[in-house]
Amino acid sequence: MYSIPHLDLPPLRGASGRVQLPGSKSISNRVLLLAGLASGTTRVHGLLASDDTRVMLDALRTLGARLQPTERALEISGLGGTLAVHEARLFLGNAGTAMRPLAAALAVLAATQGGRYELSGVPRMHERPIGDLVDALRPLGCTIEDLGVPGYPPLRVSGQPGGQLATAQPIRVRGDVSSQFLTALLMALPLVSADRDVVIEVQGELISKPYIEITLNLLARFGVHVVRDGWSRFTIPRGSAYASPGDVHVEGDASSASYFVALGAIAAGAGAPVHIDGVGGDSIQGDIRFVDAARQMGAAVKSGPNWIEVRRGRWPLDPISIDAVHIPDAAMTLAVMALYARGTSRISGIASWRVKETDRIAAMAAELRKVGASVVEGDDYIEVAPPTHWQPAAIETYDDHRMAMCLSLAAFGGQPLRILDPQCVGKTFPDYFEALFGLATADPAAVPVITIDGPTASGKGTLAAAVAKRLGYTLLDSGALYRATALAARRDDIPTDDAVRLAAVASMLELRFDGERVFLRGDDVTDELRLETTGALASQVSSVPAVREALHALQLSFRRAPGLVADGRDMGTVVFPDAPLKVFLTAGAAERAERRHRQLLDRGIDARIVDLRAEIEARDERDRTRPVAPLRPAEGAQLLDNSLLSIDESVDRVLGWWEQRRPFP
Ligand code: DC
Repeated sequence: MYSIPHLDLPPLRGASGRVQLPGSKSISNRVLLLAGLASGTTRVHGLLASDDTRVMLDALRTLGARLQPTERALEISGLGGTLAVHEARLFLGNAGTAMRPLAAALAVLAATQGGRYELSGVPRMHERPIGDLVDALRPLGCTIEDLGVPGYPPLRVSGQPGGQLATAQPIRVRGDVSSQFLTALLMALPLVSADRDVVIEVQGELISKPYIEITLNLLARFGVHVVRDGWSRFTIPRGSAYASPGDVHVEGDASSASYFVALGAIAAGAGAPVHIDGVGGDSIQGDIRFVDAARQMGAAVKSGPNWIEVRRGRWPLDPISIDAVHIPDAAMTLAVMALYARGTSRISGIASWRVKETDRIAAMAAELRKVGASVVEGDDYIEVAPPTHWQPAAIETYDDHRMAMCLSLAAFGGQPLRILDPQCVGKTFPDYFEALFGLATADPAAVPVITIDGPTASGKGTLAAAVAKRLGYTLLDSGALYRATALAARRDDIPTDDAVRLAAVASMLELRFDGERVFLRGDDVTDELRLETTGALASQVSSVPAVREALHALQLSFRRAPGLVADGRDMGTVVFPDAPLKVFLTAGAAERAERRHRQLLDRGIDARIVDLRAEIEARDERDRTRPVAPLRPAEGAQLLDNSLLSIDESVDRVLGWWEQRRPFP
């Protein structure tokens, strides 16, 4: 996951390949709570690992449920409906799917078994309403105190052992603000339905019905079969109690799928669709119906059990006019698809957007306008007319994962896009951007490159890696390619003067970078690559022009969205001469000798600084004067004397230069 202040996307133009969805947030948090409350042990497979599920897991652990990660699943030994911990403070971040049902469950359990619990979250959580749920629970006999603004978290729920709840009367709850209030009651009340039927009546038009279907479906898996009378009356039969079903498999997240369905509709060509694994046409999640809306706009979609495949159908897309009350989250993706439509789209029935992670109607309108769209916003609708002139834009994300994920799809308009605070996707999809860049392609010429060259022991590798990390860019350590070629040649017993065979080895390098590790022909060669002997061999191999030629295409292939940091000899001069920023390090020989000395000492190798310095100066001379790929600063390179700079200071210098070259104010 990227933990960087902003992520710059070059103009994107195509997409294809496979993506595995993370688990559904709605299913994950419901299953976790049910497993935590049920009797028996539940093995949860495919659980979403994200901010929202982490706060739920922390809460369950605090409440005394036993959690045991195994290789394939998370094992949860539930409380069996009996409180184990009677006082606790629970911090629930910005997870509505944790706050609402936990508040309800703890309120009824405290009222009957005794207990005292405080539930709080991040500041935005304290602006998200919960009053309708509190209003439904208080008449039952639950004690709920507002610890902040009435009607909003934080809350304290408490009660004495042996308390009785007034469940003889139907329990009334509003259904038109958030369906999570009804879900919370449906999950909580089976805990107190041993002796009599418990009836819930919904007042007002129930929104987001598909989420209630998920709730009912999961309650049934845990042994509670709610009787539904239309969408206004729900009866929990007397004697209901949660029992673990054993294994539960969490579907991929259908709301997360919407970004990739849209991606396919916008950018996947005929022969190379976007293939989405983890959710299919038979999903229990309401947002799967987003697929129908995407089809209506022109997406060509196929689906089967647990998969969806999408490519461009009609293009430009058709505008859509839709009442999206049944797919409120995924409807945000439609608003961004509307940028690519032939006319104005209208999405209505989205009043709930105003009380989500942020006021999503206002946020969406503001950000879509930045790229050039004309937007009209109403209380419960939004109208989007596509841009006539696309503009580069720095997109605010409002600490709202869906804003970040949706708006990244605005990068197909031919302009670069900046996503501010991209790490907010951690709420439901920590690796969203990695997944996006695994599928989306850009014109290589539009992918920005920073080259970092410099003499031996100047710290260019360390600097390049740090800069790449800070920007979320790919890293090309070109020296590693020469070193790997040298290793492969040695394994094949190829003499260093056999240019033809050396070039053949270089052009067929089976090299794979996996995080910090490097694999050659399947073997981990990370350490071998760094040996002095390998370096010496690489130096010889790298002076063979045919080898340089053979590695050229491989090096170019690293130029992928969102950007590349390339270090090594000729990155700025030969391989990426069009790089918008070229850095050349000029640390003095004395400093470099000291650095190398410290490195060697760290590895337990003793050496004299004077000797090291002499070696470095001789090497500099060889590198400067060699006929093939001599070491010299590229034209227009920024010289950076990093002799007296820490790595962080050097990184900041480079990033400072980089900012000046970006098209964002
Ligand atoms: O940077 P390094 O020590 O890992 O590089 C290994 C050898 O390859 C070194 O002799 C320089 C050479 N090299 C090159 O000729 N061109 C590059 N782009 C990178 C490295």
